[in-house]
Amino acid sequence: MSGGWTLVVHGGAGIIERERLGADGEQAIRTALGAALEAGAAVLRAGGAALDAAEAAVVVLEDDPNFNAGRGSVFTFDGTIEMDAAVMDGRDRSAGAVTRVTGTRNPVRLARRVKEASSHVLLSCDGADAFAREHGLEEAGADWFATDERRRQLDEMRARGDAHFDTEMKYGTVGAVARDAAGHVAAATSTGGITGKRWGRVGDSPLIGGGTYADDRTGAVSATGSGEFFIRAVAAHQVCARVRYLGEDVVGAAQATIDDVGALGGTGGVIVVGREGEGAWAFNSSGMYRGRVSAGSAPVVAIFGDE
Ligand code: GLY
Repeated sequence: MSGGWTLVVHGGAGIIERERLGADGEQAIRTALGAALEAGAAVLRAGGAALDAAEAAVVVLEDDPNFNAGRGSVFTFDGTIEMDAAVMDGRDRSAGAVTRVTGTRNPVRLARRVKEASSHVLLSCDGADAFAREHGLEEAGADWFATDERRRQLDEMRARGDAHFDTEMKYGTVGAVARDAAGHVAAATSTGGITGKRWGRVGDSPLIGGGTYADDRTGAVSATGSGEFFIRAVAAHQVCARVRYLGEDVVGAAQATIDDVGALGGTGGVIVVGREGEGAWAFNSSGMYRGRVSAGSAPVVAIFGDE
């Protein structure tokens, strides 16, 4: 695939089964993943940059209420919605990230703006939303992000009296990694986190190296899953480190990293694009919403573990 472009997307991993999802749910997810692939592929086909493609793909999934990012994000224990996002450009390892954003329609766009218009990497809470307003990004109220299904999930969790996280959940974080025709890679990730999160909990998605990483020397990675374990495994960076220092290919590095996350007790997955444009994914959950497309190849979308 050397010389061509590649885009890989994910819409979350977890316990994803045909019976639970239903035919209509399955079709909605496949359509959305296809739309995200097409949004990013349009950028890459036109000779655009990997980061623009990754951002474009993630915006589609943030705006789709079926995914746990932007509109459709899960609720915190207190009934609010707090979103995290990050982007990284493999050309110079520049990065931007935001955590606990509440009023910016597309957190991934805000992360991109942090990367490009500030001297910082990670902004949080009200300050991140204020930065978004100062830079003219589209705002959105709580009603935009909230959905009945996410409210039901929170109510169900509370009714069970879970003291901690909903381990049965489909995590639903979204992400994209791209390699453009010029050979540069980029990653973008966005999430509402986990249902019922408390005390200002932050997951792996906005942590550079945890859930998001890109380096032209190796590739780009976006993760989804039980964030605490991906943080401890430094999962996104671990994939790139395995390629760089151990000489593993991206498929092997992705699988070894998920095995490492699993050994800690974590579940989820990663998508990867290598510096030559090799697209890959690995996950240890029953399913992962995922898709890939590359120059000269038709898009592929998959949901379940047996696809
Ligand atoms: N992987 C997303 C989170 O744990 O917040």
